[in-house]
Amino acid sequence: MSRDIKRGWEPPYITPHRHDNNKFGRRASRDNCCQRIDGIDVDYLMERYGSPLFIASERRLRENVRRVRTAFERHYQPVVHGWSYKTNYTSAVCSILAQEGSWAEVVSAFEYEKARALGVPGERIIFNGPCKKRPILERAIAERARLHVDHLDELELIERIARERGEVVPVTLRLNFNTGYTDPWSRFGFNLESGQAHSAATRIKRSPNLHLTGLHSHIGTFILETRAFAEQVRLMCGFMKAVEADGGCLIDTIDIGGGLPSRNALQGIYLPPEQAVPAVEEFAAAICAALEEGLTDRDLPRPTLIIESGRAVVDDAISLATTVVGTKRLPDGRPAAVLDAGINAMLTALWYHHPVKLTKPKEGDREDTVLYGPMCMNIDVMRHSVQLPPLNAGDTLVFNPVGAYNNTQWLQFIEYRPAIVLVHADGDHSVIREAEVLADMNRHDRLPPHLQSLTP
Ligand SMILES: Cc1ncc(COP(=O)(O)O)c(C=O)c1O
Repeated sequence: MSRDIKRGWEPPYITPHRHDNNKFGRRASRDNCCQRIDGIDVDYLMERYGSPLFIASERRLRENVRRVRTAFERHYQPVVHGWSYKTNYTSAVCSILAQEGSWAEVVSAFEYEKARALGVPGERIIFNGPCKKRPILERAIAERARLHVDHLDELELIERIARERGEVVPVTLRLNFNTGYTDPWSRFGFNLESGQAHSAATRIKRSPNLHLTGLHSHIGTFILETRAFAEQVRLMCGFMKAVEADGGCLIDTIDIGGGLPSRNALQGIYLPPEQAVPAVEEFAAAICAALEEGLTDRDLPRPTLIIESGRAVVDDAISLATTVVGTKRLPDGRPAAVLDAGINAMLTALWYHHPVKLTKPKEGDREDTVLYGPMCMNIDVMRHSVQLPPLNAGDTLVFNPVGAYNNTQWLQFIEYRPAIVLVHADGDHSVIREAEVLADMNRHDRLPPHLQSLTP
């Protein structure tokens, strides 16, 4: 009997074949380097401020938000950009966007308080989200924030507060529906197809303390299909006309949420971002055309169009610079490098193949290389496979775009969270968020007296 038979049957296992070739044979990595950001040497910034390091470009951030707003204003006015705080609520980022005229779109008590602490007036705060408790709602109502209602319990709570204050509070209804192009985000807001949204509008109409003034929906994120937004606007306009025809309300804002893609490389999309991602101008043209069409035969003042673009505004404005701390060959022969930044800092590595470049040109044949982060966890992979020349400890790399959802979703897990530096529009630079130190982590820990010494 052979040894194999003695060992018995073993279940087969499947190893995913991860690579950056797409079906057209393209390699995701490019030959060029990222030596400078807005004219400032990246290695110099890392020597001065430490590694890893997030590097934000004020110039790019301002350009991006202006481009988004202009793209829409070319076809429709008035337009307001609401800055989605959850995308990146670093104070300097929020302040730059407030200076650019963006309102704040917040989804929690923390984000609301943050916007107010930065000086954003209540009337310029869009208060979204499914969990608004009474104390923060009371404050938001007193400060005339724009309330986007998520569910019936919230509507009733707002009504109670309004009644107690003897006021009529304007509210916006968040709608959800199926555009046929994206998976509906049906857990937020009131459903259109089931009649729930109509019932909520009737409920508001009958209340002496509520007034329906706006409609909102957010159909998803990183949407590549312009027709999805056009259909969203068509459905919203249909609903607007229906509730206005019912009497008792005039819709003055149509808020289409976020969802525009950034020029990032989403996993599972094979075309390079520059081919896969339509320009913001194409989205704006489709959305505004649908809005104009939706407003025909409506002899009332034009509603303000609110867009809450997050990732399209901030993603490519921020990079993550990181250092190779060691290299190795994996048993299957692939080269691998351990970086000092991992998914603790860049959680979006779970969804994107982030483009990554060396800060300096390097000789040597390129190979499919695995880039690991520093955490002692198997999931900590920054790139499963990227073509790079042979790496050595001390080499420095830059990931970009990383500005969306990393400086908010990053984890305090195993490692300290790194600093963020801003390259100012005038070429100067400064830290806009300090790297964490032990005291930051220990600040909230409390030791009962019997644990204050390590001898019992
Ligand atoms: C209500 C709302 N507005 C805006 C955004 C920002 O989306 P994006 O980054 O896709 O533009 C989100 C993100 O989930 C959201 O839920």
